[in-house]
Amino acid sequence: MKVKINNRLECVASFVEEDSYIIDVGCDHALLDIYLLQNKKNIKAIASDIKEGPLVQAKENIKKYQLTKKIEVKLGNGIETINENVDTIIISGMGGLNIIGILKYKTDLMKNVETLILSPNNDADKLRKEISKIGYYIEDESLVLEKGFFYPVICFKKGKKKYKREDYLFGPILIQKKEPEFFKYMKRQVEQKEKLLEILPKKYICRRIELKKELKVLKKYL
Ligand SMILES: C[S@@+](CC[C@H](N)C(=O)[O-])C[C@H]1O[C@@H](n2cnc3c(N)ncnc32)[C@H](O)[C@@H]1O
Repeated sequence: MKVKINNRLECVASFVEEDSYIIDVGCDHALLDIYLLQNKKNIKAIASDIKEGPLVQAKENIKKYQLTKKIEVKLGNGIETINENVDTIIISGMGGLNIIGILKYKTDLMKNVETLILSPNNDADKLRKEISKIGYYIEDESLVLEKGFFYPVICFKKGKKKYKREDYLFGPILIQKKEPEFFKYMKRQVEQKEKLLEILPKKYICRRIELKKELKVLKKYL
């Protein structure tokens, strides 16, 4: 029986290479790990979470799909549960600042980690910037629209690249790829800022100037 996962997790999975040894931090139900084992060749996986509750559910799911021997389940904070053979860290469905905190201060545990697949719920610009600072560059990325919200999925590889402010804001690869979701996202940003400008009282001069500048930048990409 094949497990079903949502579009966002499918997109995360699409960035996982065959023969990878992954750790899924904040695995919750572990459906992503089950999907990876079922759909990609030669995957080894650690499903890790900071809370006992999700891991009870994860273990039940893993048992149901008969993958108990293939997915190691670990309780712990962030990447403290990693081992030295892991080459890919996946973190999805958490706030961007939480993801930064998990990785930024634990780079000593990431010596053999070549790939980071990160899908933050927010603060993607800060995430792109901070993860670039710890020695990873953006190899690929996509935007997924799930239940009315846009989620970026960003695949970092070990190495350095220089980025501009707008690359951090909108995603250097998203800008290049020009996928339909990207234009939908930018259009929504423009609409939200135009609405805000309409209702913002004239006395907020600085914020109004800022908003107009932001709109000008956004409209370049439409
Ligand atoms: C909203 S769920 C996301 C589940 C799944 N990764 C996804 O993308 O659908 C967030 C999970 O992250 C876990 N979590 C939050 N902070 C964590 C941390 N510092 N270390 C490990 N797990 C964490 C929570 O317990 C929760 O199960």
